[in-house]
Amino acid sequence: MSKLISEEIKDLLSQYQDPYLSSDLVTAKVLRDIKIEENKATLDLSFGFPIDGYKPILEAELNTLFAKLDMDIAYNISFNITSHAVQQNVKPLASIKNIIAVASGKGGVGKSTTSVNLALALQAEGANVGILDADIYGPSQPLMLGVEGKPDVDDEKKKILPKIAYGIQAMSMGLMVDDEQPMIWRGPMVTQALEQMIRDVLWQDLDYLIIDLPPGTGDVQLTLSQKIPVSGAVIVTTPQDIALLDARKALKMFEKVRVPVLGVVENMSIHICSNCGHSEAIFGADGGQKMADDYDVKLLGQLPLDKGIRENADSGKPTVAASPDSDIAAMYRDIARKTAAQLSLKSKDYSSAFPNIVIENN
Ligand SMILES: Nc1ncnc2c1ncn2[C@@H]1O[C@H](COP(=O)(O)OP(=O)(O)OP(=O)(O)O)[C@@H](O)[C@H]1O
Ligand SMILES: [Mg+2]
Repeated sequence: MSKLISEEIKDLLSQYQDPYLSSDLVTAKVLRDIKIEENKATLDLSFGFPIDGYKPILEAELNTLFAKLDMDIAYNISFNITSHAVQQNVKPLASIKNIIAVASGKGGVGKSTTSVNLALALQAEGANVGILDADIYGPSQPLMLGVEGKPDVDDEKKKILPKIAYGIQAMSMGLMVDDEQPMIWRGPMVTQALEQMIRDVLWQDLDYLIIDLPPGTGDVQLTLSQKIPVSGAVIVTTPQDIALLDARKALKMFEKVRVPVLGVVENMSIHICSNCGHSEAIFGADGGQKMADDYDVKLLGQLPLDKGIRENADSGKPTVAASPDSDIAAMYRDIARKTAAQLSLKSKDYSSAFPNIVIENN
């Protein structure tokens, strides 16, 4: 009897297409267990990405789905974020489960703004998050997160302590050196600085470290792709064709080193007039979608050209922290879930699961 009911529940559940996993919850192996007790069923659902904001939406969807069943349905919805595979020959780090790089071809398309809001949105969804400003030549994060002053050092561990801003761990080259100094940095210095910001900073228990990259495909990107264990990349672009051409270069660079591109964020997609509410695609429509289709990656989201996004970021409190209930914050939260969901579908890192093999000569 209960077997039949659980089969019926499974059948119904497999009709629900999860928007983040692009599959039903049975196929995606999110359904772990169904417990039946008298007239009550409890569904155990476990996701591989943070879902605090999605949970109530999902429960409402499932309630509708199961409304025709004559029984109580309860949900036990959780998430568990695991480490995912990185480039060959690069070792993953114990304190950071996943590094996600945010890149673009062209400058000024909104990488830093997207990175910081993405980091805050992942945290709002329940993850433990850090952000690293790797734009050695023009750091933005101290301003965007309103952090200043040299970071403290843990003398015992001999590590630099990240700043804490709105609950996320933050580090920027801008906090370490004088404004003009890095402009002349080249190859080896950049490599060393970036490696230090990953390995000599006391990052603690991070599910995700977001790396905000400088524009283009220069020294920082080269170091990142060769020395830093990256699980995935997000490409930010504006809809103009020229920006897209550059964005394709950035995408290709990650493909070359086998870092999965999790998707494309189209920034400044449409302009909404603050007087009349009229929306207009100033830079052309659907460029991001076309790029995503061409390269078979996800369009993670489209953000409007919005005065509030700029004002919030420039005043040290990004929109996700400043107006958590706004439509814009909801867009970033959706992008965060899509990004993390895409990563959850990639291969896991099993390197820590293997024992060290020691060959002894007895
Ligand atoms: N969706 C948006 N609407 C309005 N303004 C935005 C939006 N996204 C970013 N901006 C603004 O555009 C400017 C450039 O953004 P940002 O610094 O994030 O770009 P970037 O790609 O990191 O630039 P760089 O290549 O110099 O690192 C900033 O003033 C930012 O506040
Ligand atoms: Mg930037």
